[in-house]
Amino acid sequence: MDFHNNKLILAPLAGITERVFRRLCRERGADIVVSEMVSAEGICRNPARNRHYIEFSTTERPIGIQLFGANPRSLADAVRYVEDEAHPDFIDLNSGCPVPKVVRKNGGSALLRDARLFERIVSAMTRAATVPITVKLRSAWSGTDWVDTTFARIAQECGAAAVALHPRTRAMGFSGHSFWGRIAEVKAAVSVPVIGNGDIIHPNDALEMLEVTGCDSLMIGRAARGNPWLFGQIRRRLKGEPIQTVTAQMRYETMLEHITSYRREHGEARAVRELRSQIGWYLKGTPHAAVARERLFSAADTAQIEDAVEEHFRSAPNLTKKPQRQNTSSFSQEH
Ligand SMILES: Cc1cc2nc3c(=O)[nH]c(=O)nc-3n(C[C@H](O)[C@H](O)[C@H](O)COP(=O)(O)O)c2cc1C
Repeated sequence: MDFHNNKLILAPLAGITERVFRRLCRERGADIVVSEMVSAEGICRNPARNRHYIEFSTTERPIGIQLFGANPRSLADAVRYVEDEAHPDFIDLNSGCPVPKVVRKNGGSALLRDARLFERIVSAMTRAATVPITVKLRSAWSGTDWVDTTFARIAQECGAAAVALHPRTRAMGFSGHSFWGRIAEVKAAVSVPVIGNGDIIHPNDALEMLEVTGCDSLMIGRAARGNPWLFGQIRRRLKGEPIQTVTAQMRYETMLEHITSYRREHGEARAVRELRSQIGWYLKGTPHAAVARERLFSAADTAQIEDAVEEHFRSAPNLTKKPQRQNTSSFSQEH
């Protein structure tokens, strides 16, 4: 598994990076994808119920399954189970999630408060695994008590194959801007590949992160929602080629594919519940988005979600979406 050479990685996003969205991103330029986080305890206690989280199709490879938890033995057992049942290309440890439900049980970013426990967990996982183990860190629990370099070094010493860093503190949640300087610090501290993450919205951000941090690869989360083309656009930007624009037709076809595949994969009930927001992401910044979103949110079934998509496309079929940095208008009329 190679995490060098500017790999473009779809970040784990709970509730979003399930198999359909992962495939859409792989087909549009992501080099590597990661599952949403899966509870190690859940896998150990009730493997059947949690199985769907770790399943994927071969077209998604290379793929990592991300685990969260705070008990070294459970994480090691979960690693063995995931390897035996799903055979992913790597397994990632979540050491950054700030959500209270996870932190309360000492998982996610709570690990950043206990270097000894983190060390035991990463060691237990690398000993149990035959595939590479990676870790995904935040920079600190709160304030400027940076622990990222220390934790990256520990991970490396325990046999981790790569470190991904989202340089915000747990206390920040998703507010403010990530501290890209911390990625450079971690890059200087370890010899394993460092994956930079945080606030890549536009292809130029990707180039800038590589330049200012020296990181080996990039991970993109929120900006990929409703925009799986971002990976291909970044790739072209890195090669110095013109960035491909996303036409209304491309967006329309991908939305319909997303709906059809999701329904087939997860069933009508879950599809209607989840797709209202997931399809909503594609509409971001488009004309008449508010009207379409209203229709989406009142949709009673996926057929009505498709109707909303259809109607939106008909209202502006010739618009081209150019990648834009935040807070700028993102549409221009196509000729
Ligand atoms: C809705 C949502 C769900 C997330 N779920 C996970 C997760 O399951 N595991 C994880 O390590 N990070 C998770 N994250 C954090 C992202 O992977 C990523 O680190 C963060 O969004 C910063 O990257 P970005 O600026 O490219 O979005 C989540 C973030 C969001 C917004």
